[in-house]
Amino acid sequence: MTRNSRFLPGMVLLAIAVGSLWHCSGPPPRSHVQEPQVPDSLYQMMRLRVHEMKTLRRLLMQQAPADSLAAFRFPFDFADGVPSEGMQLSPMFPAFSEAFSRHYEAFYQHPSVKNYNQLVRVCENCHQEHCPGPLRLIDRLYLPEEGH
Ligand code: HEC
Repeated sequence: MTRNSRFLPGMVLLAIAVGSLWHCSGPPPRSHVQEPQVPDSLYQMMRLRVHEMKTLRRLLMQQAPADSLAAFRFPFDFADGVPSEGMQLSPMFPAFSEAFSRHYEAFYQHPSVKNYNQLVRVCENCHQEHCPGPLRLIDRLYLPEEGH
């Protein structure tokens, strides 16, 4: 037990080090974050959005009533997020961020599969420009549209 507890801080540091190496290059850690406050860091903002998108995806698949989705609306602007150290944002970043906010509002006004996929498309567009690591995760967020 005592050996383990002395070992623990080292393990935590190692986890953090590995975590930052994986930034934008590997699969993100699974996120179960649900915070009522808008985080300062862009990274935490992304984690909240990923969690929200997965929830929306599941509810849309279950054909949950449109008005039940409104509970998940939590608007904030990626442009207000502080990027991680060493993260270079392209000059396109503000435009993508604004596009995301616009499609976000459109989705919550009309929560359809089509509008949801449009939102995923903005995730994808911005990530092609910046941070290709999560592109596979983003690709898996799309919902099939046939029959709509
Ligand atoms: C305006 C551009 C932009 C949009 C839109 C955007 N992202 Fe990001 N995303 C970034 C940037 C830049 C980072 C790196 C943040 C940092 O580390 O500071 C990031 C980080 C992430 C990460 C963490 C990457 C890692 O290595 O762990 C995930 C996951 C992610 N985004 C998913 C999404 C999803 C899903 C969406 C759509 C809901 C989305 N992003 C929309 C630019 C964007």
